[in-house]
Amino acid sequence: MRMVDIIEKKRMGEVNTQAEIDFLINGYVAGDIPDYQISSWLMAVFFQGMTEEEAYHLTIAMLHSGDIIDLSQIAGVKVDKHSTGGVGDKTTLVLGPIVASVGAKLAKLSGRGLGHTGGTLDKMESIDGLSFALPEDKFIKQVNDINMAVAGQTKKIVPADKLLYALRDVTGTVPSKPLIASSIMSKKLASGADVICLDVKIGDGAFMKTIEEAVDLSKLMVSIGSQSGKKVTAFITNMDQPLGMTIGNRLEIKEVIETLSGNGPNDLETLCLDIASYMIFYAKKADSVESARILAKEQITNGKALAKFYEFIEAQGGKIGDLDKFITVKEIIPYYAKKTGYIKRIKALNIGLVSMKLGGGRETKEQDIDPNVGVVLHKKVSDYVKKGDLLCELYCNKAIGSDIVPMLDDAYELVTEVVKKPDTILEIITK
Ligand code: URA
Repeated sequence: MRMVDIIEKKRMGEVNTQAEIDFLINGYVAGDIPDYQISSWLMAVFFQGMTEEEAYHLTIAMLHSGDIIDLSQIAGVKVDKHSTGGVGDKTTLVLGPIVASVGAKLAKLSGRGLGHTGGTLDKMESIDGLSFALPEDKFIKQVNDINMAVAGQTKKIVPADKLLYALRDVTGTVPSKPLIASSIMSKKLASGADVICLDVKIGDGAFMKTIEEAVDLSKLMVSIGSQSGKKVTAFITNMDQPLGMTIGNRLEIKEVIETLSGNGPNDLETLCLDIASYMIFYAKKADSVESARILAKEQITNGKALAKFYEFIEAQGGKIGDLDKFITVKEIIPYYAKKTGYIKRIKALNIGLVSMKLGGGRETKEQDIDPNVGVVLHKKVSDYVKKGDLLCELYCNKAIGSDIVPMLDDAYELVTEVVKKPDTILEIITK
């Protein structure tokens, strides 16, 4: 088999066979096929696309490039979730304790944040003492003992994705649906869960800009998952504003605790309860999605989800202590509305970048982050504000750059006509 023939077939819009896809993934990981040939094939895929069958074969070839976590030692249905990258997205830490408190098993591998999006590991690491470097036996024991564990993704999970993603990043081939679907699904399948919920973001700062694109990507991922014997549900969600009221690691942990106490922002609570209800239903802890949602809400009202959150934090070595002393910053800088009107949009991309520039996120993988800094929103889309009203506050430990205020000016779109409260979940795709 020759790589050049595989490239030419794809360039002409033909279908690559399973044997050809296995050949190119195995050859690339082994170092036998050079970057320039894979780059050329990626660009051909970008323009010609892939059939569902090709995308499935690509996912499986990538999956087998590394370790596959064996969760068979955990009794019952294992659930997992993935977000395509949100701003203010702390859903794992809210819905995890909810589903774990009704007996579903959440065994999750998470990643760090990069650029404007935050990562669950960074949020967890902002808690003193907390470790996510769990060896496999400890990870499995913790899920068996308390129904929930979150560990860092090791280098041995889908090495083909690390190589391919780095190449896609520098060859302009990231936003291709089959390449995104195989990248996400190979990692989810390697994590070993039976039930997978995908949060596919659309809007500002998301990979998918329109609902049509997000639906296509979601259908492809659901199809790859069901061909692999998994129950996959995709939630297409709105990122025309950050999720919840906080962006920044400790600020978001505090908001998780508030949400699990029943005092969280509506969009965050709604998203978490909706995803949790599918997880609870598919984990066979309720007879329908509707009764699962009622059960999920009860876990907040009766305090069991919050208790589970603290049990989970403690099991991984973390200690939060007095919540009033959890966040320490030198200065809180207010940002006020420059005009009167209804808020039509709060660009999530800008707010994520502001938090990153305050030190709350990283521009490059090597950067350290300050867990205390970030942005607290005081108004959301559809709110009416008068010129001079407080829109958000910046939690800072260093002087802010001259680029911050222009980024905030650009983030808030205010209009004179009334704006409807946006739906958080736009569509649910399952099979
Ligand atoms: N997230 C992933 O893990 N892979 C992609 O290709 C895009 C988003």
